[in-house]
Amino acid sequence: MALLGVNIDHVATVREARKTNEPDPVWAASLAEIGGADGITLHLREDRRHVKERDLHLLRQTVTVKLNLELACDPGVLTIAEQTQPHQATLVPERREEITTEGGLDAAGQRQRVGDAIKQLQDAGIVVSLFLDPDIKQIEAAAELGAQAVELHTGAYAEASVGFRADAELQTLLAASQAVRDAGLTLHAGHGLTYRNVKPVAAIPDMCELNIGHSIISRAIMVGLERAVRDMKRLIG
Ligand code: PXP
Repeated sequence: MALLGVNIDHVATVREARKTNEPDPVWAASLAEIGGADGITLHLREDRRHVKERDLHLLRQTVTVKLNLELACDPGVLTIAEQTQPHQATLVPERREEITTEGGLDAAGQRQRVGDAIKQLQDAGIVVSLFLDPDIKQIEAAAELGAQAVELHTGAYAEASVGFRADAELQTLLAASQAVRDAGLTLHAGHGLTYRNVKPVAAIPDMCELNIGHSIISRAIMVGLERAVRDMKRLIG
């Protein structure tokens, strides 16, 4: 059964809408754990638009499940990761004007930069995952660069799942998952997954970890975070 990483960036986004101290993502992480989260995921962006260093430091001390830090190949954030030592780091691309992470990392096109970031993190004892489009060329590059895991970008599947193209996108994800397995890497997936579209992705053989944020936090506003996490765990199982 795939593990559930709950992305709590969206809690910090609500806090930053008022530049105040609530809701607190640290509190949210505890509730997500009580609801059954297997991991807590957060993205420390270069512009610090939602998660702050204070959140990362407190979460590092309080989270008792896997702490997965999403970050760009940026020297400043890489140093913070090295010092904070989350269990896992997921390297993602970052553009200041984007609303959320848009595409996968270009590991094949930026081998030196991505390879150096992987090495820096692994030397600090951190497991490294790369957030990639379901593209065989990118997956091969991840393996060559020495990453331990690949998180497949499920955004295109998620968008298609409200129309009629979901099957084709699922086939693309299945082929990419096979490539991740063939390369001997651990398989993760995430982005845009919801209570309605998660099941086929959770059922992909050897799916190890799903990182889900927006849909869980949206439901949590209505039913509470513990229950929202529990509901998602049930679907994944
Ligand atoms: N995985 C990665 C690498 C992401 O950047 C995000 C969004 O922050 C997610 C998973 C979660 O996406 P969503 O909020 O759409 O569930």
